[in-house]
Amino acid sequence: MKILVTGGLGFIGSHTVVELQNEGFEVVIIDDLSNSSENVLDGIEAITGKRPIFEKMDLREKSKVQDFFKKHHDLEGVIHFAASKAVGESVEKPLLYYENNLGVLVYLLQELSKMDKANFIFSSSCTVYGQADSLPITEDAPVKPAESPYGNTKQIGEEIIRDTCHVNSQLSAIALRYFNPIGAHPSVEIGELPIGVPQNLVPFITQTAVGLREQLSVFGDDYPTEDGTCIRDYIHVVDVAKAHVVALQRLLGQKNDSNFEVFNLGTGKGSSVLEVIHSFERVSGEKLNYKIVDRRPGDVIQAYADTTNANNVLGWKAASTLDDSMKSAWDWEQKVRN
Ligand code: UD1
Repeated sequence: MKILVTGGLGFIGSHTVVELQNEGFEVVIIDDLSNSSENVLDGIEAITGKRPIFEKMDLREKSKVQDFFKKHHDLEGVIHFAASKAVGESVEKPLLYYENNLGVLVYLLQELSKMDKANFIFSSSCTVYGQADSLPITEDAPVKPAESPYGNTKQIGEEIIRDTCHVNSQLSAIALRYFNPIGAHPSVEIGELPIGVPQNLVPFITQTAVGLREQLSVFGDDYPTEDGTCIRDYIHVVDVAKAHVVALQRLLGQKNDSNFEVFNLGTGKGSSVLEVIHSFERVSGEKLNYKIVDRRPGDVIQAYADTTNANNVLGWKAASTLDDSMKSAWDWEQKVRN
């Protein structure tokens, strides 16, 4: 069965390609290499023994998208990761984000709408919940006004898919709302490779420990949480990747309850920034240089998933602990820098 993975050379995309190939799917990757590298193909091949088909393409070129679907008329599913994901950049360049994240989504859905049967998995984010009123966060928690154009693209993206599914019964889609994916494949053949200064906590921690960054800034310790730092649901990227295969199989087996479904992907457990640092120090044996600074604008206090639907309806559960994730992130960082 042939599956298109857009953004398949990126962080979550590449781990998902590995899990798909491990399950016997034939994978075609489209990636524009804007935040990834062709070397990732070597890593995927080293783990799975198989090199996926790769087409370098900017999906904003609509005619190329159309040509691609004509050439690959036998696609059984599309997993769509290709998107821009830097919150701060999205504030500076909103139209880039709307074009990359929503224009491209429309082009893909237009092609899928032409097919007799189409299955689509969408990368969404817990950012759609903003600061939820109650925790853990269930899928029916209200979507809050977006804090950034990036967050807005995830909300609008879900709406675009919902509306398209509403009028296209041959199209089935699942939006997966990721909490905080971290870590790397245990083989350390693939992992996260942020370009420039990392914005996310875990790559900043490992880059600091390896000597690339001077010091980690912890954004605020005066939040109303036990140790005063923000709480997130950090989930191992391999668990996230596996959830995509389970979601795809749900659609292929027509086990979905409606033709547009939404699931949270988290562990269900919240960890504070300081707990993440302590986990890192435990598994690495390194002392991390960090200081407490002011809060970062736009940060929510706490977000962690209610995983009941993911566990009982989707039939998937995160297996790794925070320590597992931090250990793999550290192993990967050391390998990359050496
Ligand atoms: C962020 C985005 C989220 C997006 C995700 C994509 C915001 C508000 N949210 O999630 O919408 O889906 O990235 O990757 O930008 N922290 C530090 N020091 C650092 C970096 C982070 O203390 O140098 C803290 C943050 O304040 C936060 C936690 O670590 O409490 C996690 O931050 P981060 O990794 O950036 O993820 P989110 O902000 O949860």
